Amino acid sequence: MADITKSEGDALYHPSKEIIKNANVKDYEKIYKQSIEDPEKFWAKEASQLEWYKKWKTVFDDSERPFFKWFAGGKINIVHNAIDRHLKTWRRNKLALIWEGEPGDVRTMSYHALNREVSKTANVLKSMGVKKGEIVTIYMPQIPELAITMLACVKIGAAHSVVYGGFSVEALADRISNANSRVLVTADGGWRRGKVTDLKSIANDAMDRSPTIEVCITVKRTDHEVHMENDRDFWYHDLMALPIASPSCETEVMDSEDMLFILFTSGTTGKPKGLVHTHGGYQVFTSSTHRNVFDIKDEDRWWCAADPGWITGHSYMVYAPLINGTTVMMYEGAPNHPYPNRWWNMVEKYGINILYTSPTAVRGLMRFGDQWPKRHDLSSLRLLGSVGEPINPEAWRWYHSVIGGGKCPIMDTWWQTETGGFMITPLPVTPLKPGSATKPYFGVEVGIVDENGKEVKAGEEGKLVIKKPTPGMARTIFGDPDRYHETYWKEYEKQGWYKAGDSARMDEDGYIWVIGRIDDVIKVSGYRLGTAEVESALVSYPDVAEAAAIALPHELKGNAIHVYCILKAGLKGDKKLAAEIKKHVSNEIGPIARPEEVHFLESLPKTRSGKIMRRVLKARAMGVDEGDLSTLEE
Ligand code: WTA
Repeated sequence: MADITKSEGDALYHPSKEIIKNANVKDYEKIYKQSIEDPEKFWAKEASQLEWYKKWKTVFDDSERPFFKWFAGGKINIVHNAIDRHLKTWRRNKLALIWEGEPGDVRTMSYHALNREVSKTANVLKSMGVKKGEIVTIYMPQIPELAITMLACVKIGAAHSVVYGGFSVEALADRISNANSRVLVTADGGWRRGKVTDLKSIANDAMDRSPTIEVCITVKRTDHEVHMENDRDFWYHDLMALPIASPSCETEVMDSEDMLFILFTSGTTGKPKGLVHTHGGYQVFTSSTHRNVFDIKDEDRWWCAADPGWITGHSYMVYAPLINGTTVMMYEGAPNHPYPNRWWNMVEKYGINILYTSPTAVRGLMRFGDQWPKRHDLSSLRLLGSVGEPINPEAWRWYHSVIGGGKCPIMDTWWQTETGGFMITPLPVTPLKPGSATKPYFGVEVGIVDENGKEVKAGEEGKLVIKKPTPGMARTIFGDPDRYHETYWKEYEKQGWYKAGDSARMDEDGYIWVIGRIDDVIKVSGYRLGTAEVESALVSYPDVAEAAAIALPHELKGNAIHVYCILKAGLKGDKKLAAEIKKHVSNEIGPIARPEEVHFLESLPKTRSGKIMRRVLKARAMGVDEGDLSTLEE
């Protein structure tokens, strides 16, 4: 049992002797010190746990900063480490995947079976002309074919761009065009809260707006009627039944720095940015963090209850766990369908050892009360994880005591789409403070600085920076290297630091408390959105002349979107219009972007140069001091 020291409210949770005894890493301080003194040595050691077709020449190359290279000269393919190498060992027959659909259907796959599916799909993609370097867009529900298609693209040297299945027409069309995708892989639909999500219709509408698309492959999941175009659309199962879909396929030899995937994420402008991750450094970083932070053992059943459409799903649902030879749990649907014990039932049924999810999910399930988890034997759980937003101590304690039975340390991992993997995180041996992501991972140097880039004192809030590049960091923004430089590296060019976009403080014990975004990025239920994206959806509504979107604290979602609209001359806002505007935003971007509240205003607070001062709107809404208003236009 965890023993709690210090007084309540400032409690320090110590791991049990059992956890410490079995931990993959026992001495954080010592290894951290070594990793900072000689990061290249540390990363080379981590890299040598993987199989390389050809060893790298240099571990780290910063000759073209900020376009850093890791393991340059090395030849590798992430699929070789995630699948191929396991086939030569007993893991061939180990379960790679346990999947449960929302209606209750179950599929399992050994590494051997996964390899066959991936190889068949790879051959299907090849037959559709998919080539090395090309980007295939994937838009799917959480079904095994999503992971299979990702791996199949990568196996033949193509890259993928997974678009979250909760995104709608506009968002999908934008991302397809930005990636210049010729091939889209989708599904007829998926199950969510007992209903079919009609992905194929959304995909069809998006393809109408995407001239680059030539081929669309559709997986049959829900079997409802969908529209297929004659010379564009193919059913996945038809293609998989053809002789071309042979179960053997060479894995393409790639350079360390070849593109693995792009993943679009929101930034401060309306256009989402496609962050580019590469084969070598990304797999070293994600597998190292996963193995050490979650203390991965061969007998573990790992459940990352995220969506593969976001970075958490890419790194810790698909790539890192497979590289570490773990059995991965995947679930299609809503956590509370048909009842709020759905997750706890699956933890018990499959004997899940590690559960990694978001504070929003924890808060959402907490709301239903303890009776739901209490019905189940959750004793298989050994470690818990949290990601996506700060976890409030109340949710932390519930997760710890009710779900983890007071014996499972919670790994609160701070990281970003840009970093590829965990940057600030405890290890199982770290004494925990609820709400703090604790300390930097090995090889990661962080700073908390003021406006002038000067380190702030313990306890003071400042901007979070990363002082040295790490192997898992995105290499660029697809098609826009200047924006990459501008967004992340320009502000601290002299120091060579990476700007995270978050604010944080460090307490006297060196524990880091991440507070939240300080730019125009919003985290709603842990999902990342840009105010600019929401605003451009708002002004695409015919009645709206100008709009601003801000995030306000929300008990369940962490943040909720509130929007302010100026209507075109002569129009008046009312409840009906507000409802229509909400629906419009949801149709354009996706239900996650649906505004919580729509307010109608005569004017928006702006600077003299015409920039909307969102912080003023926020301060007014929250009834706090509006701060410096000297730049505010009359
Ligand atoms: C926030 C998600 C506090 C943060 C992996 C970051 C967190 C943004 C945490 C990146 C955490 C993520 N504690 N805040 N443990 N994890 N964040 O790109 O604001 O979707 O900048 O990556 O999520 O969101 P993204």
